[in-house]
Amino acid sequence: MPGCAFVDGQYVAPEDAKISIFDWGFLHSDATYDVAHVWQGKFFRLSDHIDRFFASMDRLRLDPGKTRDEVRAVMHECVRRSGLREAYVEVLCTRGLPAPGSRDPRSCTNRFMAFAIPFVWIADPARQARGIDLFISEVQRIAPASVDPRVKNYHWLDMVGALFQAYDRGAETAVLVDAAGHVTEGPGFNVFAWVDDELITPASGVLEGISRRTVIELARARGLPVREAPLPAADLRRADEVFLSSTGGGVIGISRVDGVPVGGRPAGEFGPVTKQLQAAYWGLHEDPRYVETVEYG
Ligand SMILES: Cc1ncc(COP(=O)(O)O)c(C=O)c1O
Repeated sequence: MPGCAFVDGQYVAPEDAKISIFDWGFLHSDATYDVAHVWQGKFFRLSDHIDRFFASMDRLRLDPGKTRDEVRAVMHECVRRSGLREAYVEVLCTRGLPAPGSRDPRSCTNRFMAFAIPFVWIADPARQARGIDLFISEVQRIAPASVDPRVKNYHWLDMVGALFQAYDRGAETAVLVDAAGHVTEGPGFNVFAWVDDELITPASGVLEGISRRTVIELARARGLPVREAPLPAADLRRADEVFLSSTGGGVIGISRVDGVPVGGRPAGEFGPVTKQLQAAYWGLHEDPRYVETVEYG
């Protein structure tokens, strides 16, 4: 795989990016991470991703041993060395290894890593053109009282279980609910529904996605009513438009929910709100206030 990784202070090829199996990031999912993307040689909203990464690490009492500027420099360097113009750029901080024989997280030496690999889509444009089928799983997203969903985390057993259910039903991806049966999020994305002439995205129990924030800002700037509110599964089923938001592809239209065409449209055809926000999202990638150029040299 093309790309470049940064592990234990060294830049290495992706196939050489390895850590100990005794790292608690692996053994206990005791880690956090963030993912930014590079599009046409430019990072999108990089400062916002770095802010969220540091907020996540603060909440978990993890110390990457790097300043914000150093993290930014490593991300740029991974992309520069990879030569990738479209990249998926991840930074991670794991709890690391404890002192020999200790089970005390305070004895661990935290480990910072990063990598840049080719852009990873939730569903690429060709896939979107064929129409994406979203399944509403009855699997509950891990409770916010147990794992703070604002901390980007690897607690994905619920997500993976829901994905297998979706595949078993011929759907392509899944969204999970909370204990009240309200929609939360899915593997790698937030959810939006255009229902009763307003845009709703779940208010709580979700990662505060950078793409979600971008969509909310874009909608407000266009005078579209948008609200962060509980989203009952029934409202997602009757919505006129449904889309996902993710660093892995921006605004991604959904054609069917539980096998039923959204808004009665043919597969791959999307409503005006989805189309408008999708165009606006990619348009922002030209706006110097949101992008940062990679110096490939
Ligand atoms: C669980 C979850 N929710 C939402 C998102 C979307 O966040 P962002 O827009 O910052 O990519 C992600 C991204 O990977 C995610 O893993």
